[in-house]
Amino acid sequence: MKLEEIGSRVKKIQDGGKLAVITDENVGPRYLLDCTKSLKEAGFQVYTFTVPAGEESKSGRVYLEMLNKLAEIPLTRSDGVVALGGGMVGDLAGFTAATYLRGIRVIQVPTTLLAAVDSSVGGKTAINLPEGKNLAGAFHQPELVLQDAELLNSLPKSVLLDGMAEVIKYGMIADEKLFAELKDVEASWKNLENIVETCVSIKKKFVEEDEFDYGVRHLLNFGHTIGHAIEKCSDFRFSHGLSVAKGMNYITAIAVKKGWCEQSVFDELHAMLKEYGFDLSVPYDNDSLYDIMCSDKKREKNSIDLVIPERIGKCVRKTVPVEDLKELLEIGRPAVDREGNGAE
Ligand SMILES: NC(=O)c1ccc[n+]([C@@H]2O[C@H](COP(=O)([O-])OP(=O)(O)OC[C@H]3O[C@@H](n4cnc5c(N)ncnc54)[C@H](O)[C@@H]3O)[C@@H](O)[C@H]2O)c1
Repeated sequence: MKLEEIGSRVKKIQDGGKLAVITDENVGPRYLLDCTKSLKEAGFQVYTFTVPAGEESKSGRVYLEMLNKLAEIPLTRSDGVVALGGGMVGDLAGFTAATYLRGIRVIQVPTTLLAAVDSSVGGKTAINLPEGKNLAGAFHQPELVLQDAELLNSLPKSVLLDGMAEVIKYGMIADEKLFAELKDVEASWKNLENIVETCVSIKKKFVEEDEFDYGVRHLLNFGHTIGHAIEKCSDFRFSHGLSVAKGMNYITAIAVKKGWCEQSVFDELHAMLKEYGFDLSVPYDNDSLYDIMCSDKKREKNSIDLVIPERIGKCVRKTVPVEDLKELLEIGRPAVDREGNGAE
């Protein structure tokens, strides 16, 4: 779809009334005008709210501000929220919509590759608390997800790369063919529209089977458990996508050492991540990673749920006792730091 068509698309699920469009300071100047023009032409009363770009806006303070704004309008239960932005805006606007009047409609319009392939689909919404990321949230499915691949053209390379980490993840967990196609880096960057479609259909399958994340949906966390620990150790200087890339590389190195998958799985994944330009070094010691992994909200009692590749295109869940975690981090470490990617 083109952004200019958003009005007619939304009209199919909401006939008139009010829409609050939430965006950020990088996306707003580029796309807000086309978006609101189309919505107004389709007969909607449109209100816009632009928050500062960056993870800081996914906070309790900004969330409450958004709720106040919606109440001031006021939006009713038959109105809706449009999230025009990347994962940050999607999560913030989604959580605002999930909780305002106990839940009103949200329409996701992802503008980053990560949001297009991952965060806009599946209904997870959240804000961060000082104690940690995504600690307050809700499952709230979008009534519509509208993708305009052209919006990705204005993304800085590093933000695009973040999304590519999630794309590679989909290849690893569920689609050998996608993984093979991604080996052609240049062609893949030119073929984002089809790649997004493939990834969304994979995510959709996992979500339909396990909407509330008690089972198979965990596979979408491949690379994330160690990745989150790396992200947090870096005090969020390492982006989510880069941290996931480092995490996928690390957990696959562990899987090889434990005999859970062939060396070739690591070699192929490692080569691909390097080819796309990810720096795979992990400049934190095992104790720091361990401490954070132990406090991860996905940990259950005295065990931790890891996602392990069996082969390219298939991952499985493995529950390991927390006391084994240090040993696992230790045995994966040499492969993580090799090839001149050593700890900084
Ligand atoms: N809900 C979920 O299932 C889910 C899944 C994965 C990640 N997330 C969340 O998503 C967030 C990360 O998302 P993100 O990587 O999209 O980051 P982001 O939303 O912060 O966007 C990254 C940067 O790109 C800018 N930007 C966005 N679209 C642009 C465009 N078209 N042109 C130019 N600049 C643009 C933004 O302003 C920002 O500076 C994190 O908060 C993470 O927790 C949620």
